[in-house]
Amino acid sequence: MIRASYVVRRASWPLLTALLVAACGPSTPTTTPVPGPTSGINPSWAYNGKARVAEGTKAMVVAGSPIAAQVGRDILQAGGNAVDAATAVGFAMAVVHPEAGNIGGGGFSMIRIAATGEVAALDYREAAPSRGSRDMYLDLRGNPSDLSVTGALAAGVPGAVAGLIEQHRKYGRLPFAQVIEPAIRLARDGFLVDEYRQNSIESDRDRLYLFPASRRQFLPDGHAPRMGTTFKQPDLARTLTAIRDSGRAGFYGGWVADSIVAEMDRSGGFIAKADLAAYQAKWRTPIKIDYRGHTIYSMPPASSGGITMAEIFNIMEGFGPLPPFGSPQLLHLEAEAMRRSFTDRNYYLGDPDFESVPQARLTSKAYADSQRATINTQHASKSDSIKPGIDGMHTTHYSVVDAEGNAVSTTTTLNNSYGSAVTVSGAGFLLNDEMDDFATAPGKPNMYGLVQGETNAIKPGKRMLSAMTPSLVLGPDGQLKLVVGTPGGPTIITQVYHVISNVIDHGMSLPDAVAAPRMHHQGLPDEVRLERDGFYPGAVAGLQSMGHTVVYRGRWGDVEAIIRTATGWEGVSDPRLGGGGAGY
Ligand code: DON
Repeated sequence: MIRASYVVRRASWPLLTALLVAACGPSTPTTTPVPGPTSGINPSWAYNGKARVAEGTKAMVVAGSPIAAQVGRDILQAGGNAVDAATAVGFAMAVVHPEAGNIGGGGFSMIRIAATGEVAALDYREAAPSRGSRDMYLDLRGNPSDLSVTGALAAGVPGAVAGLIEQHRKYGRLPFAQVIEPAIRLARDGFLVDEYRQNSIESDRDRLYLFPASRRQFLPDGHAPRMGTTFKQPDLARTLTAIRDSGRAGFYGGWVADSIVAEMDRSGGFIAKADLAAYQAKWRTPIKIDYRGHTIYSMPPASSGGITMAEIFNIMEGFGPLPPFGSPQLLHLEAEAMRRSFTDRNYYLGDPDFESVPQARLTSKAYADSQRATINTQHASKSDSIKPGIDGMHTTHYSVVDAEGNAVSTTTTLNNSYGSAVTVSGAGFLLNDEMDDFATAPGKPNMYGLVQGETNAIKPGKRMLSAMTPSLVLGPDGQLKLVVGTPGGPTIITQVYHVISNVIDHGMSLPDAVAAPRMHHQGLPDEVRLERDGFYPGAVAGLQSMGHTVVYRGRWGDVEAIIRTATGWEGVSDPRLGGGGAGY
């Protein structure tokens, strides 16, 4: 059973992102030249005009679940600031969006304090247990096994509770008990199951069924809770109450920690009491990107998001005003910039506390100039000819802006949809399968097809490299303009790039920028991925004639973004999934 799931998850990109609304596998478009338009968005694109929009004159919250967005809005209206609201949303998401919202996983928050302009980056990524080792997932033939994806051995030491508590400790205004209370209530009293929730749990039924506590919690009669019923999670409510009463000691110590370790003993995992006790969220220095008069702040390692996106933006900036959206010229330049940036990502980036990361060089304009000089503007390069430059499903995002203009941009994940599928017995939360984000077999593709190197190999206590890219954008006037992020594995980086570039370079409204079709290139496999039906056939043919292998991959992502308007804030939720906003 696990083996079958492993094969599917490693081989099938659409399934593993679990974000795809349309059930359609990859396919390669025909290469015959096609008459008709060659730039812009295909009018038959399903999401034209479909982004979900919320308005607020003072403040705004957008999240992958409308229930969680309302929790955040209520906290703001009760006098909380953006960090209080984000913390409340984080805990609520662990209840109402258990495929990705979590306390058994990890994430990253970008925070901006309006009064001082201070920007902070908090890393609460999971870490390898102390018994972790470089080759722990290799089978006898040296191939990566499914054990980094499903089951207790796939779990890194969870960081989410340490992170949410730390961001609240440093910047929150309301008492912690008030901020976590909505999550406790939603877990204890339950919430109404809608079609989206029923389908989401049912789609991961086979994996959840493998583990008794997951079966009990998520598959009450062998299937997902039915639409229209109330879904209660009493064990999770007890765990959240322990966190309310004892702070981080309520999770990293006491009976919850005992339950995690007992689950490890039962299910063959490595997380030990000492690993839990040692876990710390870490403040990092944000990546700052200057792009056409704007300032973009994003996440440094242990996420690759900020550095890789900086490299893409810096390469693109030097091309001057960009060709029109959807044109083969633009898609080609973007593919070439992404190919080079991901090649560097996969070779150079890893946990900076364990590896030396050439961050300043990779994010410099001079380095982008040298990379841009290697791009033929008329023809594709081959990824296997690109050397690293120097010398030689399911995640979720929420964005919050409060009435003072403070902002939080948080991306958090269990990695796969429902993580490792293991629920901690008696404690009611899912554990991540983040260990698969390490190069479990350096030089071989992981479940996202990423081929990564030794810099991201497993070492005890090390954090696995992420692609999560929570970002904040200031306009040329220095004011907060945009808060943005999304799930989607490696496509996170290119999605966030696209939304920002669509607004800055192509003058799109935020709803149009989010709804617009997406392209992605990650070096290897050497292909340009396009969202099916988004681009004109003539543009796709043009791209192929420049030497690119083009693959349609359904649809991906769940951008949750906020933009400043003349009258306040506009919250935009990706029409591809089920999120929503709430402002006032
Ligand atoms: O940290 C990362 O890059 C991945 N664990 C994110 C996984 C993800 O976005 C899955 N959702 N589609």
